[in-house]
Amino acid sequence: MVLVIPGFLQIGQRFILQQIVDEKRTKMRETLRIMSLSQFNYAFSFFVTQLFPAIVAGVVLAFGFQGDTKVFPMDPNKNSYLFGLAVFVYSVASIPFCMSISTLFNDGRLANQVGSMLLFLPMLLVLYYLNQTDADGNPTNNATLYWFYWIPTIPSALIFVHLAHNDYNPMKVSQYNETSMWLALVGNSFLWFMIYRYLDAIIPSEFGIQKHWLFCLKSSKKLAPVELTRDDLEKNENVFSEGDPIKFNKLTKKFGKFTAVKDLQFSIREGEVFTFLGHNGAGKTTTIYMLTGMLKASAGDAHVYGFSINKEADLVQKNLGLCQQFDILYENLTVKEHLELVCELKNIDPANVEQTVKEAMQVVLLTEHSHKLSKELSGGMKRKLSLAMAIVGNPKLIILDEPTSGLDVESRK
Ligand SMILES: Nc1ncnc2c1ncn2[C@@H]1O[C@H](COP(=O)(O)OP(=O)(O)OP(=O)(O)O)[C@@H](O)[C@H]1O
Ligand SMILES: [Mg+2]
Repeated sequence: MVLVIPGFLQIGQRFILQQIVDEKRTKMRETLRIMSLSQFNYAFSFFVTQLFPAIVAGVVLAFGFQGDTKVFPMDPNKNSYLFGLAVFVYSVASIPFCMSISTLFNDGRLANQVGSMLLFLPMLLVLYYLNQTDADGNPTNNATLYWFYWIPTIPSALIFVHLAHNDYNPMKVSQYNETSMWLALVGNSFLWFMIYRYLDAIIPSEFGIQKHWLFCLKSSKKLAPVELTRDDLEKNENVFSEGDPIKFNKLTKKFGKFTAVKDLQFSIREGEVFTFLGHNGAGKTTTIYMLTGMLKASAGDAHVYGFSINKEADLVQKNLGLCQQFDILYENLTVKEHLELVCELKNIDPANVEQTVKEAMQVVLLTEHSHKLSKELSGGMKRKLSLAMAIVGNPKLIILDEPTSGLDVESRK
């Protein structure tokens, strides 16, 4: 009975899994990364956003149902607010736990199901060990659950049993130190946040470029630009010029056995407006995804201002504005808020944000729609917003993937 509460709270955690996996699937995650959002800031902001439901759950259960034995059979000798606190700390710890699980999935629904199981099943472990008896029917005393303290469900379930009235509180729970449960539960938040950051960096997903599993041990000296070797340049004299800031070196992408882009080899000059033409399915978007670090190249490399997309995608992304073929926008943010978000991510001086946003909206003729939510925009207006987001902050390299599709004649100009 006392374990119904943590079971109930898992419903909320399913939402976290769905949302984080969906942000990966819809490329929102990589889009934010291209706008210079660091991995830590993304993880931390997601964590902070999810805290709100945890606080609500804690406060409602602590104050709304204080002393209500139907909700939770609280031990009358314990401070009843501890119940709300336990709900809050458990909810907080399960946020990074769910985030870590999400790194293994590209499908939100599957992540939901597996995540709920991984949060629920350890409860059976608690039931098993607390009810274990020896041959004579006496409770055994082995405190095995200490070994599982790294799973948030375990210390939280023990806390709930500890807080419960004696009728619901098996003798065996007293062998677990109450302070250790609280410390373990709080510690789980930090532990799983670190685990999430590590798994997220190394586990391959459909989009984005993964780091080596020992990346933490590698020095960060590689900030120095990596240049193509002279050999590379001499072999390809006709297409390369040494001083060009963007160079493709046999860039190739395969999807399974199908080769979408093969041995792409050319360079683009500074100040040049370079146009990429090809029939549908020719591989234009795939090339752009590789050049921006959204897709990992199967072979070859490209260099942008000396930085390799294979090894230093994060540095390539620092000075990049990208308008993708399909608009990736937050439904419930207005035109102006989208542009302010980009300014913030690109560290534009707060004093200049208003002017920058105003100018970007003027360029794409969206000024009169500045307060519309993105879901209220027409297809062409969405395109214009994506275009404005790419040019905000004057990045050195602007990549536009079919920016004029769906635009009227006047806007195309
Ligand atoms: N994730 C994927 N898995 C398998 N095949 C893919 C994937 N993404 C793209 N392709 C294939 O790669 C090829 C190139 O696709 P891409 O989107 O780069 O074409 P495109 O030149 O941008 O076309 P369009 O003009 O229609 O936008 C296509 O044949 C497409 O079916
Ligand atoms: Mg395309």
